[in-house]
Order: sequence, then C-alpha cells, then structure tokens
Amino acid sequence: MLALKIHHIGYLVKKINGAIRSFENLGYRIVQETVYDDIRKVDICFMEKDGYCIELVSPVSEESVVYGLLKKYKNSPYHICYETEDFDKDYQALVSNGFIAIDEPTPAPALQNREVVFLTSPSMGMIELLIHQYS
Ligand code: NI
Repeated sequence: MLALKIHHIGYLVKKINGAIRSFENLGYRIVQETVYDDIRKVDICFMEKDGYCIELVSPVSEESVVYGLLKKYKNSPYHICYETEDFDKDYQALVSNGFIAIDEPTPAPALQNREVVFLTSPSMGMIELLIHQYS
C-alpha cells in the first residue's frame, strides 16, 4: 500500500498575474507569493480554496521544461503532486506499477527546496512525488 497524500494540483498558465487574479475572483487565496524556480525556468504561485491547493506554473522562457506543455495544453491542470513519507518504498512501487521517472529528484525552490521527482504512466499521465521531510 502506498503512503501518498495529495499535496497540490499543478496548473499550467500562460500569464501568472492574470491567472492569480482570475483564481482570486473564484475565491482562491494566495498561500505563497510567486517564486521563480531557476532550475525549471518557471514562476510558481500556490493558492488554496476549500482545502484544495493548486500550484500555478508559468514558463518564463522557451528553455523551460514546461514550455512545450503550455503550447500543447494552454491554461490547464497537468499534474497531481503526491507527498510521500517513504520515498524509496513508494518510488519502487510506482516503478513496479509501470511508472517511469522522467527526471531525477531535484530541489524545488517553491517548496522550501524539498526534492521532487516527476513520473509518467501510460494509463495515467504525469504525477509529481514530493519527498516528505521531517523538520
Ligand atoms: Ni507541482
């Protein structure tokens, strides 16, 4: 049994400030102001409504890893992030279930530099794993 907890839904947006205003109009509030992720060349802002956390992700350069996805999906949700308390075990279980890692665990500046890794499955698409850290 996997010990995964939903952490956020990743939402691609073309223009982050316009998207923030639109989500605010729907009743979302900012839980973390926009942070620039230099590794992925994206701006990231976390917002929340009714206990649901969304991560607005907006590429700032054509070199961004999500620039191609934005062209394909436009403004759209594109991943669910799961927090794991037992990364090694859950990662192995996902790989056994057909998931393929599409990058290495890498610090996420918008998440206090906790490490994340993206995986993809033919039947489910992309997920993000956030490695739990004890403070
Ligand atoms: Ni994410």
